[in-house]
Amino acid sequence: MPHPTTRTLAWLAVASSLVACKEDVPQAWAAPASASQPLPIEVRQPLKLTSIETHERDSLGRPVRIACTTCHSLKTTAPMPTSPADLDEFHQGLTFRHGSLACASCHVAEPESGPLLHLADGQRLPTSQALRLCAQCHGPQYRDFEKGAHGGLEGSWDDGAVRTKNHCVDCHDSHAPAIPKVIPAAPPRARDSAEGTPDHG
Ligand code: HEC
Ligand code: HEC
Ligand code: HEC
Ligand code: HEC
Repeated sequence: MPHPTTRTLAWLAVASSLVACKEDVPQAWAAPASASQPLPIEVRQPLKLTSIETHERDSLGRPVRIACTTCHSLKTTAPMPTSPADLDEFHQGLTFRHGSLACASCHVAEPESGPLLHLADGQRLPTSQALRLCAQCHGPQYRDFEKGAHGGLEGSWDDGAVRTKNHCVDCHDSHAPAIPKVIPAAPPRARDSAEGTPDHG
């Protein structure tokens, strides 16, 4: 056992050498890596915005789709319909229940272009950018959607992978956007509950 004062001196020597090491070493400040970087988020791009489904199936059994522009780039302009009943040549049977909006509140019919949408200021949008149209009239829901509180987010916040969220029209039909009311199903009957099936008592 060394004498206590010797030991104290030894400790002091070690401690002062540590302090000395840190002296006069300029430390560059850097923000912690990536901690406050928002992770990338992608909005799903539903196929129905740019193509329609046919009854044909491909070799993998998936429905064959036709792009809107396939027909609309060839179509001559017809007057904009005012109700679904005006569509008698194609797209018959459309259901429309979206406030008191007119078809022309969202659509423009222009020759030799794809089917176009328009914002309130007249700016034309391809249907692939429909989200901007929804956002224009539904500000509070769009704000919540941007923050992940409406429409939800899929994926993990900590694995660095791209997270995805659904597009408005994945959940809401553009023409009848109310989410249908559902009747809750009766709960399953427990096999061993008191009011269970009589033959199994
Ligand atoms: C197979 C051809 C075809 C495809 C594909 C198609 N349309 Fe059409 N569309 C038509 C025809 C034909 C009419 C006219 C129907 C009528 O007046 O009865 C029409 C009418 C419309 C109208 C009414 C205004 C107008 O221009 O006459 C809109 C809006 C429209 N289509 C949007 C779309 C969108 C959006 C898509 C893709 C998601 C699409 N269409 C895909 C053939 C097509
Ligand atoms: C709130 C905006 C909005 C209004 C109002 C609206 N549409 Fe659309 N419509 C869309 C969007 C967005 C699409 C792109 C495809 C989708 O979401 O289904 C579309 C697609 C279509 C299509 C392509 C095929 C299909 O069934 O999706 C047709 C046809 C069409 N609209 C006709 C009409 C007619 C007719 C009216 C009026 C009765 C109307 N739309 C009113 C936004 C609107
Ligand atoms: C031009 C303005 C306008 C645009 C563009 C628009 N909406 Fe609407 N939306 C309305 C109005 C008006 C109502 C009816 C509000 C009411 O009845 O209280 C409504 C109602 C709704 C509702 C509630 C339906 C219900 O009955 O509960 C949903 C959901 C909705 N819109 C989704 C959408 C989506 C998705 C889009 C984009 C494809 C869109 N809206 C584009 C004006 C718009
Ligand atoms: C994951 C599905 C989902 C997505 C994505 C989604 N919504 Fe909704 N939305 C809902 C549900 C569920 C409700 C509640 C319906 C109810 O109460 O009947 C709703 C309600 C609404 C309402 C009616 C609000 C009210 O208080 O009655 C509007 C308007 C609306 N959504 C617009 C949008 C818009 C705009 C987008 C895209 C920016 C969007 N939603 C994306 C599922 C979704």
